[in-house]
Amino acid sequence: MYVNEIYAEKISERLARRDLPKSPENLYAPIDYILNLSGKRIRPLLVLLGADLFGLENMEHALPASVAIEYFHNFSLIHDDIMDKAPLRRGQQTIHQKWNDNVAILSGDALLVKAYEQLAQCPPHLIPELLRVFNRVALEVCEGQQLDMDFEELDHIRKEEYIEMIRLKTSVLIGGALEMGAVIAEASIENRAKLYNFGVHLGIAFQLQDDILDAFGSMEAFGKQIGGDIIVNKKTILHILLRDNLQEEDRSYFKNLLDLGEKEADRKIAEMKSLYMKYAIQQRADEIKQRYTQLAYSNLDAVEVAAARKVALYELADRLMHRKQ
Ligand code: IPE
Ligand code: IPE
Ligand code: MG
Ligand code: MG
Ligand code: MG
Repeated sequence: MYVNEIYAEKISERLARRDLPKSPENLYAPIDYILNLSGKRIRPLLVLLGADLFGLENMEHALPASVAIEYFHNFSLIHDDIMDKAPLRRGQQTIHQKWNDNVAILSGDALLVKAYEQLAQCPPHLIPELLRVFNRVALEVCEGQQLDMDFEELDHIRKEEYIEMIRLKTSVLIGGALEMGAVIAEASIENRAKLYNFGVHLGIAFQLQDDILDAFGSMEAFGKQIGGDIIVNKKTILHILLRDNLQEEDRSYFKNLLDLGEKEADRKIAEMKSLYMKYAIQQRADEIKQRYTQLAYSNLDAVEVAAARKVALYELADRLMHRKQ
């Protein structure tokens, strides 16, 4: 077994031991529901790989932080699905659809508290520093999510603004997961920063791939509604590149598509995707994704540990860039 698989196994065991109360059922059953759906669980793995990189011997010391990060991630997804009006998550109905918005709000809140409960179980002398990293990242995710919502209503989002928004909503959590691993292994400040920067650049590439899959993925593999971003006029990389490259002849057609309502969702998705195709938007987005992946690799290259220790992280990064899920 590869180190990634051994660690993935440890994470699922730990998550399976959560033992939530049975009542009130409408508070805890949704938490069990989302945690039982098969997510990729890359963030908890990154905590362990971050610790492993700097030679942490007893991985038990990193497991509570790892679970905390996965709880936080799932909390953010529950609320994100309300905000994005998403019907599907990991191939199943979202919590707000299966139950209702109020259940999704409150079970999400409870899951966030469960994340802090895990953090309290980290090695005591490291808790203040781990909390600093976790809280910084958690607030940044909220900032990114608010910008993401604000951008839906705005027309002229520049590529740089978009990248900053996804850095906040997605990348800092990926960087923070690795950084927490480095804190637990008591790595140097310099190495911690390099590893964090690897994660942030990887996270940007990860969100670019998510945007691409939202339009061009398959529902079976991706587990989410295809075209959901198009329906709500989400300012994704595809949207921004299209707007920047549109020729005069297509401008008003594009604008009319943006104004289509929910009833015409299918047509809106199909015609927007034809425009993406006409302007080779997927290829352009892919090139930007490759650039961020390269930047990520150069940060990992710079971490001062033996190259052999980095193999698992390179392998994971490579897998994520080609993911369909
Ligand atoms: C989804 O994250 C949210 C984004 C940041 C795009 P993942 O793609 O890691 O979702 P799961 O946990 O594997 O379902
Ligand atoms: C995810 O952005 C960011 C957070 C959940 C914090 P998306 O809205 O693109 O994620 P998916 O596509 O719903 O998983
Ligand atoms: Mg969202
Ligand atoms: Mg979403
Ligand atoms: Mg998405």
